[in-house]
Amino acid sequence: MRMSVIGCGYLGAVHAAAMASIGHDVVGIDVDATKIASLSVGDAPFFEPGLQEILTEGIRSGRLRFTTDMAAAHGAAVHFIGVGTPQLKGGDAADLTYVDAAVAALLPHLSPGDLVAGKSTVPVGTATRLAPSVAERGATLVWNPEFLREGWAVQDTIDPDRLVAGVPSADGEPTEEGARAAAILREVYHTAVAKDTPFLVTDYATAELVKVAANAFLATKISFINAMAEIAEVTGADVTQLADAIGHDARIGRRFLGAGIGFGGGCLPKDIRAFSARAEELGRGESVGFLREVDAINLRRRSRAVELVVDALGGTVHGKKITVLGASFKPHSDDIRDSPALDVAVRLHGLGGDVVVTDPAALANARRAHPQLTYVDERDEALGDADAVIVVTEWDQWRRELDPAHAATLVRGRVVIDGRNCLDAAAWRAAGWQYFGMGRP
Ligand code: UDX
Repeated sequence: MRMSVIGCGYLGAVHAAAMASIGHDVVGIDVDATKIASLSVGDAPFFEPGLQEILTEGIRSGRLRFTTDMAAAHGAAVHFIGVGTPQLKGGDAADLTYVDAAVAALLPHLSPGDLVAGKSTVPVGTATRLAPSVAERGATLVWNPEFLREGWAVQDTIDPDRLVAGVPSADGEPTEEGARAAAILREVYHTAVAKDTPFLVTDYATAELVKVAANAFLATKISFINAMAEIAEVTGADVTQLADAIGHDARIGRRFLGAGIGFGGGCLPKDIRAFSARAEELGRGESVGFLREVDAINLRRRSRAVELVVDALGGTVHGKKITVLGASFKPHSDDIRDSPALDVAVRLHGLGGDVVVTDPAALANARRAHPQLTYVDERDEALGDADAVIVVTEWDQWRRELDPAHAATLVRGRVVIDGRNCLDAAAWRAAGWQYFGMGRP
């Protein structure tokens, strides 16, 4: 099937390459000429496992190309909108400028019968607002949210847990046009559909809410366990054992009960804030009032990690060398957007610490964003003469591959703060380290 993908950032670039990899004929369109130039020669503009391969293969096969020219969308049967919806400057709401501009620029190139499929995370009500302009061109708007996780984006796009299609509906049922749109989307995702992946057809509002509700739930789960970590800290309990024990209850589940310095990235923090803002606009702020608390708990854990370092170093970090292991907001990613790791590093630097950061993928981005910090490529070099070490992103390079006895030979002070509760505490203690976890005795 011929399709266009408008917006070639994280979501769009992965989506375009993934669609080509399952046999579609895809053109990716973006206003950023630098990004398009790099994608056109098969260079992924960010680190994402597996993306480089499908990008190169798509271009080689002739099924994938990139351009800045919106007219290239003409002739495609499905047009995906994958532009960003960042947090508005100076507010919590989502900035819809890019979505609105992408749809407006696409309109003149639509043909009757085309499908416009929104993938961006948007405030509920957006599809209903945009649908009439698309309908005027004889095309149909659907909302088809994306649930991909960074680091697993290719796999999540090609083989998702579920597919959701918000289509034109009346009285709780898809209209004839809505049913046709859903059928086209089934063809688009033919490989997942063939595997009986759940395919849910809903109205616009439900589809938009599925995305924000899922992210709100995940954020709440993380902040719940981090709240338990705060209680564990004053009672001597161990939050990781607590998470294991409650996680055995299938109704709760162990995943996303990792206590530590909390969530960051380009989605969870901004999405829960945008959801709160939208609920307030709708007069239902109190319904999701708890999300403000979820956000507050999350931010408190970053402060707690800083406090642990200060306390472990006897009340001040001034003049002390602190090695920060990690910069990206999570492993397998070079994304530093709202990274708890860098927030902690910047705060320690602000308190007078001599902060050295290392990360396997995110150093170039971190350098640009926070030039005041010192960055070292090699893990062992970064550990050299440290007075304290703090783990802020759970990369395998230290979670699995760093022998605490070896690390002990590199540092000046054997103090480790495990901001992700990802190290083997007993092994580190046995190697002579003072180990401090988050919510652990
Ligand atoms: C998230 C959603 O998972 C995804 O479905 C949605 O499409 C986009 O937002 P992502 O931002 O890639 O994906 O990261 P995710 O794996 O969800 O992690 C988010 C943050 O939560 C990271 O900073 C991670 O370190 C943190 N986290 C995750 C925890 O602190 N504890 C956990 O147990 C799990």
